[in-house]
Amino acid sequence: MKAIEWTGSVLRLLDQRLLPHDQVWIDCDRAEAVAKAIVDMVVRGAPAIAAAAAYGVTLEARSQTAASPAAFRQQVEAVMQQLEQTRPTAVNLKWALHRMKAVLQAFPADATAAAMAHALEQEANQIASEDVATNRAIGEVGAALFANPVNILTHCNTGSLATVGYGTALGVIRRLHELRRLRMVWVDETRPYLQGARLTAFELSAEQIPYRLITDNTAAYLMQQGAVDAVIVGADRIARNGDTANKIGTYGLAVLCQHHHIPFYVAAPLSTFDWSLASGQDIPIETRNAAEVTHLFGRALAPTGAEALHVAFDVTPHSLITAIITEAGVIEQPALASMQAFRRRVGEA
Ligand code: MRU
Repeated sequence: MKAIEWTGSVLRLLDQRLLPHDQVWIDCDRAEAVAKAIVDMVVRGAPAIAAAAAYGVTLEARSQTAASPAAFRQQVEAVMQQLEQTRPTAVNLKWALHRMKAVLQAFPADATAAAMAHALEQEANQIASEDVATNRAIGEVGAALFANPVNILTHCNTGSLATVGYGTALGVIRRLHELRRLRMVWVDETRPYLQGARLTAFELSAEQIPYRLITDNTAAYLMQQGAVDAVIVGADRIARNGDTANKIGTYGLAVLCQHHHIPFYVAAPLSTFDWSLASGQDIPIETRNAAEVTHLFGRALAPTGAEALHVAFDVTPHSLITAIITEAGVIEQPALASMQAFRRRVGEA
């Protein structure tokens, strides 16, 4: 399953707003179209929006090859800034744009626009292909934590649709299934945007991975019944002390896990780590249109004029996280010291 495809001249995005019923691809031939697709959640999920933004930069660069080197840089950097503003919480977006900017800055002042555009396209391709390899590594590392077949509960969508391929938390689940170490997946529907019901259930159905869809408020009941062996979720940003932002509802699951003595895992690539932030309190949390709470598929669920709040992410304190699973290994009991040791080990300090 793929939701993002670079043809060499346009970025094709599977419109995730219409899944699971309609599979419609949107062709973006300008950076503005990519920015709009990210804002509108045609494409969503931290690693997927990072790759999409990198291709947005590529599209702009390709349209400016006749410009002078200085005008080219100015225009491409302006578009990078615009793309960075599209969604605030997932740091992967900034990470990808930072990589693209570094490519531009490595060129001498008199480099031709065509040469810079070519290098930017190569970097975007690299970001996209690395993402799939990274997710496979996360899957391997995460699956090694489980010796026997398990029931996993997950939240939101962290699969092929949220990444360039395979997925992070859902990558671990995929790998467990491949290794016959997965009994079944409890899929939180993930109110209000229903990434679980619309997207995760769609991916798992397509691959015949056993799952059962539940309303978000069923998780506590299942844990009380002993029906959940572990929770695995993704992340949009991880602060220096291990505090983690992810889809709204994640924090509640972590609190429930602590009460029921169930391990709570976060699976994320290194591009989700924001070493510049001391704690989760510093992570910008996106709020979205309240109509996404009051309405479903264009139909009102609440009385006309009902006031609603749509906070799109929450922060799970590191003390509630059993381990963070990355492509470079596991951080057990994340806290300042274990995070710093990991950072040194992976050479990011
Ligand atoms: O608002 P979304 O759908 O972009 O939120 C997605 C999530 O919260 C995911 O859990 C996160 O981005 C990790 S995706 C591998």
